[in-house]
Amino acid sequence: MTAPVGDLEYGWLARARDLALRARGRTGPNPMVGAVVVRDGRVVGEGWHEGAGTLHAEPVALRAAGDAARGATLVCTLEPCSHHGRTPPCAEAVIAAGVARVVVGCLDPLERGRGQGVRVLAAAGIEVAVAGGEEAEACRALNAPFLTWALTGRPLVTLKLATSLDGRVATATGETRWISGPAARALVHRWRADSDAVAVGIGTALADDPMLTARDLEGPVRQPARVVFDSLARLPLTSALVRSAGQVPLVVLVGEAAPADRVAALAAAGAQVVAAPGPGGRVGVDAGLDALGAREVQSLFLEGGPGLAAAFLAARAVDRVEWVVAPVIIGGDAAPGAVGGPGLGPLAEVPRLAGATVTRVGEDVLVSGRLRPPPDAGG
Ligand SMILES: NC(=O)c1ccc[n+]([C@@H]2O[C@H](COP(=O)([O-])OP(=O)(O)OC[C@H]3O[C@@H](n4cnc5c(N)ncnc54)[C@H](OP(=O)(O)O)[C@@H]3O)[C@@H](O)[C@H]2O)c1
Repeated sequence: MTAPVGDLEYGWLARARDLALRARGRTGPNPMVGAVVVRDGRVVGEGWHEGAGTLHAEPVALRAAGDAARGATLVCTLEPCSHHGRTPPCAEAVIAAGVARVVVGCLDPLERGRGQGVRVLAAAGIEVAVAGGEEAEACRALNAPFLTWALTGRPLVTLKLATSLDGRVATATGETRWISGPAARALVHRWRADSDAVAVGIGTALADDPMLTARDLEGPVRQPARVVFDSLARLPLTSALVRSAGQVPLVVLVGEAAPADRVAALAAAGAQVVAAPGPGGRVGVDAGLDALGAREVQSLFLEGGPGLAAAFLAARAVDRVEWVVAPVIIGGDAAPGAVGGPGLGPLAEVPRLAGATVTRVGEDVLVSGRLRPPPDAGG
């Protein structure tokens, strides 16, 4: 049993969430966490986690508070850890600081089966309160990729596509650049920077020769790993992806029929070639996601094309959709639509976005929504 969370404490939780966001896109494979130490109704220490290998948010905030932490309330967006990872357990630091009460925004699934942060704190005589309602949901949303990965071992998948008004992703002659406008393209770079990995199918890699890096952004940027679903290891050694493999990680997922010499050549050129066999000799969506999850990829930004988008949608492996619709009409029977394959079933069963929002981005329209409910870590 945990204590209720007070109204003022919900306000401090919101502040802790803002702090957590200061390291947005840079904490993977760790979650974004913020913490606030409050004493006699006044904030006496604040902190956030800057990324793997650096101090967690709680000890940063406790250090900032110093002696004032004794008898104070610690408000943190995520359950404090109770295990030795890259840094010592936060629960120990919280106990040592003499904190009287801890307010937690959401529970950490990785704590189940370990010491369980909340239990360790309670056993040390600290009053623990776990948030509910909208603030708890907001704390879970902050770390949806981390929670998805912790609960399933796979990354949270966001499918992004950019189409004409008539749903095409290329002209009949194969032209693709650019359907969306500069504002939407800038947004894509932000999304890439916020993701652990960006993926395309080999069709897109061959047609567009993309870099898939995050560019032209302000502030520190952590480049996502680039992933290509390439059953037969056809990715050319001369491609922009392979040529930049020394600077930004490149993962080539291959099927069981990938020729050994092609695999060896890609590996020699610096790509990480990973077998992820699926049905029909192709890379399996599930096998690919398992392989990426095993590499601590918690968020996958899937940029198509139509073949891979269809496979992910058919496998019900897409969590979120970011769909840019540009005010152009391409036409032509041979111009590819955004989602290929045989179709996604009878109309009553096709994927339908939940909680869809519509935003104007420059001249384009962005439709965002969920295809799977957000992860529920309990609490
Ligand atoms: N506007 C947009 O948002 C957008 C985004 C991306 C691409 N595009 C355009 O789309 C076109 C390329 O279309 P595409 O459909 O060929 O590209 P794609 O979806 O990027 O690649 C499809 C290929 O991925 C490989 N693949 C590996 N595992 C797979 C699996 N489980 N299921 C399905 N495919 C798998 C297959 O080749 P193997 O079997 O050989 O592995 C397949 O042919 C280009 O013109 C590109 O510019 C547009």
